[in-house]
Amino acid sequence: MKDQFQRTIDYARISITDRCNLYCTYCRPDHEEMLSHGEILRYEEILRVCKILTTLGIDKFKITGGEPLVRKGCSDFIRELKKTDGVNKVTLTTNAILLSKDLVKLAEAGVDGINISLDFIDQEKYKKITGFDGYKQVISVINKAVNMGLNIKINVVLTERTTMEDIQKFIDYMKDHKICIRFIEQMPLGNKKTTIALTRNEIRKNLKDQGIRFHKTEQRMGNGPAVYETMEGYKGMIGWIEALHGKFCDTCNRIRLTSIGGIKPCLYYEEAGNLRDLLRKAETSDEEIKQVLKEIIYKKPQAHHFEEKPSDGKMYTIGG
Ligand code: GTP
Ligand code: 5AD
Repeated sequence: MKDQFQRTIDYARISITDRCNLYCTYCRPDHEEMLSHGEILRYEEILRVCKILTTLGIDKFKITGGEPLVRKGCSDFIRELKKTDGVNKVTLTTNAILLSKDLVKLAEAGVDGINISLDFIDQEKYKKITGFDGYKQVISVINKAVNMGLNIKINVVLTERTTMEDIQKFIDYMKDHKICIRFIEQMPLGNKKTTIALTRNEIRKNLKDQGIRFHKTEQRMGNGPAVYETMEGYKGMIGWIEALHGKFCDTCNRIRLTSIGGIKPCLYYEEAGNLRDLLRKAETSDEEIKQVLKEIIYKKPQAHHFEEKPSDGKMYTIGG
């Protein structure tokens, strides 16, 4: 359906848990209260919301967390969602710490793509940013997934610790791997300040000076805000997600369902409503839920204002 600004909304990001097994410095709050199981929507409840969303024209779903694979049954849920009428694409964003054991199951479930967070190709730096010595297992499952022919993209959040040497390692990786690596500008959320990091312009200039030739591509590589470029002589593709310098709200196509049933029509703003009580009332019809969703989607805000003021939102509860 279209919102009040005539944007087509066809993509929902579904957070299935607020729990995460990593402590990334730019994401995890200093004090956190985890939700109890009863507060989190059951898979059947989430599926019901997704089904209703399909009747509003939303056919692409991104499963997020926290870390989605810490919730038991994630790949079975994806299988069910993929089988649902009106569902076109189902993708997952994960830190890949637990991916190895679920990879084949996810492929069999028909997952359309997996985005993996990996901020450094460096064991020590990875450990520093995430609080966990997991680099080797993540890079090994990335290689495995790429070799299986899965559609894999890497998310690299640009931090104050990211140097051109770090970027170069990702560029080298793209030489022979058919993979998209996206460099992400940090958004200021919660109590986390955005730190000064390399910008897209600086990175491009440096790479160009080394002789790398970029070509714009109009190819749609996913459903999100990244813009992509190819590099001559490289199998991989470079992607840029610049929420501040390349503000993409004009073409925003998505809403979010939080793990407790909240609906967030924009990452920057508070929830515009919560479906949990409605879902748990025996007499609530699908039509009633649909009307609530329809109104929230229609009123989706025009834009975020990260450049003026950080948002109070907690990234780990909305899954990016
Ligand atoms: P595909 O394009 O389908 O691969 O997915 P995606 O890029 O939408 O999803 P992913 O979960 O990998 O998110 C990548 C980055 O984009 C994260 O840093 C998200 O926080 C950011 N992002 C996703 N949606 C939005 C949005 O609506 N607004 C802003 N500002 N950032 C977003
Ligand atoms: N700004 C931009 N991206 C972020 N992510 C987490 N926190 C931020 C932030 N403040 C990224 C994660 C993950 C994706 C879902 O969101 O690294 O790849």
